[in-house]
Amino acid sequence: MANVVVVGAQWGDEGKGKIVDWLSERADVIARFQGGHNAGHTLVIDGEVFKLHALPSGVVRGGKLSVIGNGVVLDPWHLVTEIETIRAQGVEITPETLMIAENTPLILPLHGELDRARESQNSVAKIGTTGRGIGPAYEDKVGRRVVRVADLADPATLATRVDRLLIHHGALRRGLGLPEVDRDGLIAALSEVAPKILPYAAPVWKVLNEKKSEGRRILFEGAQGALLDIDFGTYPFVTSSNVIAGQAATGTGIGPGSIDFVLGIVKAYTTRVGEGPFPTELFDEDGQRLGERGHEFGTTTGRKRRCGWFDAVLVRQTCATSGVNGIALTKLDVLDGFEELKICTGYELDGRMLDHLPTAADQQARVTPVYETMTGWSDSTAGARSWADLPGEAIKYVRRIEELIRCPVALLSTSPEREDTILVTDPFAD
Ligand code: GDP
Ligand code: IMO
Ligand code: MG
Repeated sequence: MANVVVVGAQWGDEGKGKIVDWLSERADVIARFQGGHNAGHTLVIDGEVFKLHALPSGVVRGGKLSVIGNGVVLDPWHLVTEIETIRAQGVEITPETLMIAENTPLILPLHGELDRARESQNSVAKIGTTGRGIGPAYEDKVGRRVVRVADLADPATLATRVDRLLIHHGALRRGLGLPEVDRDGLIAALSEVAPKILPYAAPVWKVLNEKKSEGRRILFEGAQGALLDIDFGTYPFVTSSNVIAGQAATGTGIGPGSIDFVLGIVKAYTTRVGEGPFPTELFDEDGQRLGERGHEFGTTTGRKRRCGWFDAVLVRQTCATSGVNGIALTKLDVLDGFEELKICTGYELDGRMLDHLPTAADQQARVTPVYETMTGWSDSTAGARSWADLPGEAIKYVRRIEELIRCPVALLSTSPEREDTILVTDPFAD
């Protein structure tokens, strides 16, 4: 039985939610393994829109087990609200259908405050974070002072954890001119939210390993995109977690050998939210048209996404670092009607040609893309459900992408709707 990892292969918002929802019909368990509610995954099912941030996209299909793994950072108050919102859309969420790893770190209000206070400092270049406390929570995890889900069960442990955390944050907050944290108020708030979270707490590593031995299929749902990875992304303009496929193992507690197929989600052009280098970014009418046709506004913050041509150099690189076996190419329909399309095939830097994005920040900011021009198509691909429905020029564009990134297309998406998806190779096939 195959277990599949889905990862974003660009800067996020590639359409992971739609593809995970589509694939989850074939899976028994859907597990998030990193990130938090900085993610925004949109699903459209028969015209109804579901926006998921902390919950795995699998919750929308009944009868599946959804899992929040230890690699995630979880804001318990946000989760309670998100569960209520999704329930109001008719989705059943119970401790039988949702499990949260007991060793998951919690995002507290002080993390969001710190995130936003740092972003508003004028002396340092902004990252353009979502302001949801993701970075500060991961810092505290690695700093061995974070409050975890299991700590909510015992008042004495909870108080000890909060005290340890506040020694560190007290000093930080004084430096930033933030008011002192009300210790007793924080403990009271955590004690109040605890009974709403604890029913879902479980030893996820054990449950997943048991499911695996029973031959159940696990679908791992990544958030963000490989270019936002803390190690391999455009540092420091990245998120604070490992985003690439290897994280699926450490972020849930299964061995790396349990991953049978890595599916990279790739948008047919490129977008980015927040600050940082973006070699193929467009500032002209083409860029505006991509943004308008693609409705490129952030699901989480509503910010306008920056848009540009497809960058094959970047995707070849991210397919390598995640060991991508096949890609799902999304939003091909957004390119309908362009007379010409450009694909970046390499970079030029100081008179030299590069076949990868350099690591040094100043070089990342200075590379200029080398383009190949392709003929566009006037027919529509929107809503296409088979290869036969695609115009010849669209097929050529897809084939050229496969060649340049050295990875085959397994799925193709032609609209936000669940069923407007073309299956080429089933990632779950044995
Ligand atoms: P995610 O963060 O990777 O899950 O992606 P988002 O949900 O943030 O952004 C992708 C957006 O594109 C969502 O609004 C989707 O409904 C939409 N979408 C997904 N696939 C397609 C597609 O093939 N065509 C079009 N036009 N929209 C799509
Ligand atoms: P999904 O899962 C796109 C970006 C932010 C910012 C940087 C750091 O929907 O693809 P953070 O709040 O994580 O510390 O912000 O990362 N970012 C995303 N961009 N899609 C996402 O998630 C993102 N999650 C974070 O805009 O540039
Ligand atoms: Mg998104």
